[in-house]
Amino acid sequence: GGVDLGRPASTSPATAKPTRLAPLTILFGSQTGTCESLAKRAAKEAGKRGFAATVRDMGAFTIEQLAQEQNLLVITSTYGEGEPPDNAKALHAALTAATKAPSRDEGVAAPAAGEVLPGAATPPWRLLGALRYSVCALGDTNYVHFCQCGKEFDAALEKLGAARAAAAAECDLDYEAKFTSWLDGALSGLTEVGRVIPNAPSTANLSGAVTAAGVGGVADPGQPSSPSPATPTQTETLTRSATPDGANGPRFSRQNPFPALVLASRRLNGAGSAKQVQHVEFDLGDSGFVYAAGDALGVYAHNCPELVGDVLAVLGCDGEEAVAAPDGSSITLRRALTEFYDLGKPTDELLAVVSPCLQAARGRDMGETPALPRSAPHHVIDALLAAGGGKLAPAEFVRTLKRLQPRLYSISSSPKAHAGQVHLTVSAVRYEKDARARKGVCSTFLADRVQPGETRIGVFVHRNAAFRLPESGDVPVIMVGPGTGIAPFRAFLHERRVTGARGRNWLLFGDQHAATDFLYQEELAELQRGGVLTRLDTAFSRDQAEKVYVQHRMLENARELLAWLEQGAHFYVCGDASRMAKDVDAALQRVVELAGGRTAEQAADYVQTLRTSKRYQRDVY
Ligand code: 2AM
Repeated sequence: GGVDLGRPASTSPATAKPTRLAPLTILFGSQTGTCESLAKRAAKEAGKRGFAATVRDMGAFTIEQLAQEQNLLVITSTYGEGEPPDNAKALHAALTAATKAPSRDEGVAAPAAGEVLPGAATPPWRLLGALRYSVCALGDTNYVHFCQCGKEFDAALEKLGAARAAAAAECDLDYEAKFTSWLDGALSGLTEVGRVIPNAPSTANLSGAVTAAGVGGVADPGQPSSPSPATPTQTETLTRSATPDGANGPRFSRQNPFPALVLASRRLNGAGSAKQVQHVEFDLGDSGFVYAAGDALGVYAHNCPELVGDVLAVLGCDGEEAVAAPDGSSITLRRALTEFYDLGKPTDELLAVVSPCLQAARGRDMGETPALPRSAPHHVIDALLAAGGGKLAPAEFVRTLKRLQPRLYSISSSPKAHAGQVHLTVSAVRYEKDARARKGVCSTFLADRVQPGETRIGVFVHRNAAFRLPESGDVPVIMVGPGTGIAPFRAFLHERRVTGARGRNWLLFGDQHAATDFLYQEELAELQRGGVLTRLDTAFSRDQAEKVYVQHRMLENARELLAWLEQGAHFYVCGDASRMAKDVDAALQRVVELAGGRTAEQAADYVQTLRTSKRYQRDVY
């Protein structure tokens, strides 16, 4: 059902003032709550401007309902390779299909020009003829398919006859300013009856927009292969970088993080492992933070001191130069580069500033060694090195940098089992690119540079209301969490133990080698002995010639898995979005097909029903 928000008092019968408020539906597509909270803010603002606004979850909204609406705002994120968030999938598919259908009724021939078929279904290009709308897309410019889902909603609504009341906004990670100005424009646009905004050039030409947004092509090759939260795919970066949704105490928040003391940090892998997965514990002290199993923790890390040193060296600075902090105050260049600015992908502004130097350097290089990369530099340091550094004034350089964003990690503790603490399970991201060792800012900060009992780091709780244990402790759960994907399931299991929940718990875990990568092996054994972990299946991919993954274990146990689902089990997936979560999704459907004797289409429906009834939840990045 919808949430009514922001209706002015004049709607109440007591003040019987006969103003008719314009109805407005605000649909959100959201993986972990960012767009949902923005939708609620939009409703509040709309209420002040005389709309009767209703916030609706896209997952519970059909194209037929859409056809009944007059005013619509769509706020949606994108994740993975340009995919809609889970709750937006069905509506996105329905709209896309409608734009392609020659007629809504299959088998009914499209009318010849000028011919009117009495009683014929509404042609798709007029289906949403009464609707006026605007779309706010959230994304991350580090990815090629920037804001893809929002762009597709914008285009499909127009194709189906709806009138664009304001151009779509495409917001990057720091969405605040763009969101606010979009909302202002969209509400004004909806108020101005009859005005229709044509498709903006950036959305009319999707491939053009993609090229412009995705300088350098794809994400670093070292990144997609790692399931660490430090290398999130598009949506997770953005949804996980969200404003907390009222979950925090009043004093501390994303904007005002709590300096949490690191209590402990230990490596979970054995010697000889290719991975470094770190278990880190924080003291929440008197922060007032409240969280639930399934939530994430935002962490403000510092850039690596060696990298900062390298940047200072190329600039020819000693670090003591005064520059502006994001809040406008004056700080040293070293502190700015360490704590406040992103030294990852260079911004277009930085590239513009260094490009004359780049070209001069290229000219010098002509006919000699092909030393300069032809593609755009991947990191700030590469841009500076390629351009020869030197000539950039510190203040000018800092102005071209983006703010360092906090990283979000799925919490691996239950507040009921470890009161006052938060635990994380973090994989250190390290790879090589253009002959330079690179590392994930936050994951290697946590792995290499924290001193338990001494280091304090700015943190905040990020609510993830779409990833929760069933309300009833009697309902069985199936958890698929390879690698660091195990994090929220450790929290779930601890929670179910302390609450005495009687429902069965099945964990599917996978990693490279049993000997070195069996994360939390002792704890899991203990949970099994205690009867909390009912069933544990492992897939150690590199202990034999053939790769074995969690989805293979699902298929081997198809009958039992379906039996659990038939008994009402909730199905959870956490970890790598780009490959694992997709393969597990396909395997789930296959399980329903094989063990349930269903067609592919029926199995897809079954899985979709699980999703809409919130029994299939994912925390993927
Ligand atoms: P691999 O690295 O040997 O390919 C945690 O990272 C585990 O997830 C590892 O065992 C890894 O195997 C595995 N993994 C890699 N790709 C996967 C996929 N598409 N589906 C499931 N598991 C995968």
